[in-house]
Amino acid sequence: MRTVPVPEKAILFYLIFHYKHPLVQFLIYCRENMTLIIFFMFIVWFLGSIVIWTLINGISPMPTSSKALLKIQEILPDVNGPIYELGSGWGTLARMLSRKYTHQQVIGYETSFFPYWISRLFCSQNNVTLERKNFFKVDLSKATLIVCYLYPGAMRQLKEKFTKELKPGTHIISNTFGIPGWIPKQVCEVDDIYKTKIYRYEI
Ligand SMILES: C[S@@+](CC[C@H](N)C(=O)[O-])C[C@H]1O[C@@H](n2cnc3c(N)ncnc32)[C@H](O)[C@@H]1O
Repeated sequence: MRTVPVPEKAILFYLIFHYKHPLVQFLIYCRENMTLIIFFMFIVWFLGSIVIWTLINGISPMPTSSKALLKIQEILPDVNGPIYELGSGWGTLARMLSRKYTHQQVIGYETSFFPYWISRLFCSQNNVTLERKNFFKVDLSKATLIVCYLYPGAMRQLKEKFTKELKPGTHIISNTFGIPGWIPKQVCEVDDIYKTKIYRYEI
């Protein structure tokens, strides 16, 4: 049997007899409000994780707006092969793509912890695969269509990757940011306050 060493005993006695001590009051408060504390810790974890992954990736998991989504839907090309979404966030675009291309495989890559797991929860269609991977490290050579909503730095880096890996005829649709130096096949303007542009390219 474990015996309590004398200094620990002394502390225990001190805390029991001085229950108004701030530490004792704090422990009592924690015991009584355990649910609230767990909830608070979850919120801190959730927000902390989003902030950290935003700093790592250089972009927040802001979803494509409903108006931009409709515009993307209007210009989707006919394709026959895998469709990739780079940075699939909460799964907004992946869900729409899987409904539109019921006979094609839609593969989304996302690194941010909560957006990834929440998108897994809400993307139950058989033709969607969501993977927690950095899209710069995956092979895109089988793509027939690539969809993304990223930021200028990522588009600059992707330009090199696209040039090396994509086969002729591959389509790229990018929300807001174009590929620097490439001439799009089509540019659409979304009817929102930012006049968001949707770029469509064909290799
Ligand atoms: C602006 S959000 C777009 C989310 C979703 N595509 C949409 O349109 O609703 C960009 C997402 O890309 C993810 N991302 C950025 N760089 C990434 C990388 N190298 N690999 C995987 N995901 C990345 C971010 O975590 C973020 O969730």
